[in-house]
Amino acid sequence: MAIQLFETLRITNRSQALSFAEQTGISFHLLKYYNDNNILPSISEIESIAKISGISKSVLMLSMGIISTELMEELAINAIKIGDLLKVDNKPGLQEKTELKPQLVTSYGSLFQADCNTVLQSMPDNSVDLIFADPPFNLNKQYPSNMNDNLIEKEYLAWSEKWIDECIRVLKPGGSFFLWNIPKWNTYLSDYLNQRLTFRHWITADIKYSLPIQGRLYPSHYSLLYYCKGKKPNYFNSDRLPMEICPKCKGDLKDYGGYKDKMNPKGISMTDVWYDIPPVRHTKYKKRKGANELSIKLIDRILEMASQPGDVVFDPFGGSGSTYVVAELKERKWIGVEIGPVDDILARFQEIESERPLLSKYRNGYNRLFTAESAIDRKKRGLWTDESFNTLKPLLLDF
Ligand SMILES: C[S@@+](CC[C@H](N)C(=O)[O-])C[C@H]1O[C@@H](n2cnc3c(N)ncnc32)[C@H](O)[C@@H]1O
Repeated sequence: MAIQLFETLRITNRSQALSFAEQTGISFHLLKYYNDNNILPSISEIESIAKISGISKSVLMLSMGIISTELMEELAINAIKIGDLLKVDNKPGLQEKTELKPQLVTSYGSLFQADCNTVLQSMPDNSVDLIFADPPFNLNKQYPSNMNDNLIEKEYLAWSEKWIDECIRVLKPGGSFFLWNIPKWNTYLSDYLNQRLTFRHWITADIKYSLPIQGRLYPSHYSLLYYCKGKKPNYFNSDRLPMEICPKCKGDLKDYGGYKDKMNPKGISMTDVWYDIPPVRHTKYKKRKGANELSIKLIDRILEMASQPGDVVFDPFGGSGSTYVVAELKERKWIGVEIGPVDDILARFQEIESERPLLSKYRNGYNRLFTAESAIDRKKRGLWTDESFNTLKPLLLDF
C-alpha cells in the first residue's frame, strides 16, 4: 500500500504544506497535485524535497510505491538485508513458535518481556475474562524500550488494529475489553471496535495529560472504552461512590434539596465521567521514572466492575505493572507483557504488600454515602450524614 507524498513528509495540514512549498520553491498546487495523484516529483524537485525534509529519494519512492529500474537494482543488490529487516518469513504459521519464558511467575500470574503480539499469538482462543490495554499514545514520548512513539497516523492505527484483533480472539465470549487512550485515537478505535464487539461505555477520566495548547482547549480527559464480546458481559458490578464534599469545609458540593433523607446510604450511582482518579505524578508514589503509570484506583475499579476472583486478566502493555499488582492483590489470574525493561515491575512485586493498604483505602471508600473519615468530620462540624435521619426510608433516590 502506497503512502501519499504529504504523509511521507509528515505534512498534516495546509499551512505546513504552504510553508514546505515556500522552502522547496515548488508551488503548493503542484505538491498537492503530486500528493493527490501519487505522482513522483521531477528529479530536481526530489533533490530539493530531500534537502529540506532530510528524506532521501529512495525512501520517498518506496513510501509512494514507485519503483524505478534503478531502485529495483538497488533492492536486488540488498535483497538479503532487506528480507531480514522486513521479517517477511516470520509471519505466524511460517515460523517455528518462539519459546516464551516468563520473567516472573507469581501465585496468580506470569510476566513476559516480549512484544505483546508474540505473546498474544501463543494464547488460545477464548481464554481471557478481562483485557485492559493502555498502549503508547504515539505522542513522541521516550520509553525505556526506545520504541518508536512517533508513527505515521496510518501505521499507528494499523498496529493498534493488529493487537486489538488478537485481543478479541483471546477474549472469552462475554469477556470485557477496556481500552485507555487519548480521545483522538479512541475515536478511530471505537469505530473499529463497534464492528467487532458490543459497545458498553465511553468513560471519561478527568485527568490533564498535556500542557495547555495555544488556540486549542486544554486537553483534560482520557477516554476509557468499555466493550464486551457478544451481547452481554458475563459479569458486571458497579461500585457506588461517596457523595462529593468540599475538601476544605466538608460541606455539600451539590444541592440535594429536601431529598437528603431519601438518599441511598450505599452512595451515589457511578456515572461514565470519573473525576476521582488521581494522576500518578508525585515521585514518592511513582513506581518507575518517566510518565504513564496509572493509578491502582483506576485498575481496581475496572477489575471490580468486570471480573471476579479467579478470572483471567490480560494487559498487553505492562509499563510499571499497575494492572498486574492489582490483579495479584485482588486474586485474579493475570498475564502480563512489557516490551521494554521489566526491572521496575519485578521490584514492585518484591514489595507488593506495601501497596495493599492504599488499595484497601480506595476500596473502603466505596458503597457508602460518606467515607468513615468524612462522616466523622461532618459530624464534628454539625453537618448532616445519612445517620442524621431516623425516619424509615420509603424511597431510595438514585443519584
Ligand atoms: C502507556 S505505558 C503502560 C503503563 C501502564 N499501564 C502502567 O500503569 O504502568 C505503555 C507501555 O507499553 C510498552 N509497549 C509498547 N509497545 C509494546 C509492545 N508491542 N508489546 C508490549 N509492550 C509494549 C511500552 O514500553 C510502555 O511501557
